[in-house]
Amino acid sequence: MNFHVLTLFPESVIGGLYHSIIKRAVDEEKIDINCINIRNFSGNKHNRVDDYPYGGGAGMLIRAEPVYESYKSIEEELSKNRKVVYVTPQGKPFTQKIAEEYSKLNDLVIICGHYEGVDERVIEEIVDEEISIGDFVLTGGELAAMIIIDAVSRLIPSVLGKEESFIDESFSDGLLEYPQYTRPSEFLGKKVPDVLLSGNHAEIEKWRKEQAYLRTQKKRPDLL
Ligand code: ADE
Repeated sequence: MNFHVLTLFPESVIGGLYHSIIKRAVDEEKIDINCINIRNFSGNKHNRVDDYPYGGGAGMLIRAEPVYESYKSIEEELSKNRKVVYVTPQGKPFTQKIAEEYSKLNDLVIICGHYEGVDERVIEEIVDEEISIGDFVLTGGELAAMIIIDAVSRLIPSVLGKEESFIDESFSDGLLEYPQYTRPSEFLGKKVPDVLLSGNHAEIEKWRKEQAYLRTQKKRPDLL
């Protein structure tokens, strides 16, 4: 799968993602993270990409042209199985379900805004979906893009190793994950639940299902 990030800060996107599991996935060519610097398409000798909003008001906007031209520079490489996403606090909330949907694409283009945002016309022209990573405002879309790329990449077959499986994890069945323990079997006087040491797989499975339900009820009743 190919991610294409239109950004004013390509180094922060690459730098933020090129570690651990995502680095391995890039190195093994299971994913590609292609950052396009919007500034390279400023169209002026001072490399300015922002301008004042018509009608006045605080802050600056990214002009439509540099965003449009940076998109045009990659459009031909994109497969039909693609989506163009603009990350903004006004977007649809990002969820595991959306991550699963995106993991089936060949190309995901993510447009990162900065300053007060991007000229509305380019969003109308090229964007399929607006996505928010939460009800708060970031200084730019780069962190949101990184979060989406991380969450989507780990769902692509063979990006996670056997020991990093996502089968039982939180949200995979609409519930939070059951509690987990590793050695030692006693820590600060707290013992690992007996059932997990019993070797009875049916009982363990039953206990985990119950715990997942109880946890969700306690921590995130809204999910039930
Ligand atoms: N850009 C700024 N704030 C954002 C948010 N909450 N989600 C996605 N993109 C953003």
